Amino acid sequence: MDAWDVCDLCIECCIKGDEIASIRSRREGQTRIEDSQQQQHIRSLFTRIARRYDHVNRVISLGQDQRWRRQAVALLDLPPDGILLDVATGTGDVALIAHERYPSAHIVGVDLTPAMVHQAARKTDRGAEQLRWALSDGLSLAFSDNTFDAVISAFMIRNVPDIAPAFAEQRRVVSPGGRVVCLEMTWPSRFPMSWLFPLYFFGWAALVGHLLSGDREAYQYLPRSVRQFLAPEAVVATMQSVGWREVTCSMRMGGTVAIYTGIK
Ligand SMILES: C[S@@+](CC[C@H](N)C(=O)[O-])C[C@H]1O[C@@H](n2cnc3c(N)ncnc32)[C@H](O)[C@@H]1O
Repeated sequence: MDAWDVCDLCIECCIKGDEIASIRSRREGQTRIEDSQQQQHIRSLFTRIARRYDHVNRVISLGQDQRWRRQAVALLDLPPDGILLDVATGTGDVALIAHERYPSAHIVGVDLTPAMVHQAARKTDRGAEQLRWALSDGLSLAFSDNTFDAVISAFMIRNVPDIAPAFAEQRRVVSPGGRVVCLEMTWPSRFPMSWLFPLYFFGWAALVGHLLSGDREAYQYLPRSVRQFLAPEAVVATMQSVGWREVTCSMRMGGTVAIYTGIK
């Protein structure tokens, strides 16, 4: 399959609006799997905050979020004309940073939530040949095996019900020797961050997120989802268990942000 087949369909969908409930799975020639309750919850939450998402991120991370995305993108090691998949692209920031860094690479950003992808599509003009946006579930990606040179996700993995199938699916669509990069928040275990972080996250981030987005529940979910997420050692072990090799984890911001990498 041509890697771009799915995108022509979905770019149309995204630009037309939010009414798209499903896309065809090109891989299996079947209609996409039914949403789980968690996926419905995630989609509803990100639909509500999509328009304010970037602005809130910049404020609650004190402008650091783009720096973490750049650091993650720098670890992709993409060939100049390589093909990159950004899973859970959201409003497209990782894909756009990757486009700056690898201007001749082909980049596909996919997400579960049409309203988020719609924001991504608004950031690029229709002529941006190297960048495509699509709707796809990260647990059942609409691409053939071995399609991409690398796959990246940022702040997605704590939102899926089980991370093993997500990492296995990412591995399936990457060519042998290709790379995975995963950027995610982590609950710090060491003093003083273990003491300061709850104040920052349950206090400042939840309050500012609520005030700027008007959505209290969404920005209560944010710290809760990080608090409940796995420790970095467990993420590394899961990546290894589904076949990623040479898995690494590097911590940033006093142990609150992790960047995982691996090779197929
Ligand atoms: C916190 S946002 C991160 C967006 C973007 N990667 C960024 O760096 O800002 C999480 C995104 O994950 C998406 N998401 C959650 N579960 C997903 C899944 N199973 N498949 C695809 N996208 C998913 C949500 O729709 C949302 O856009």
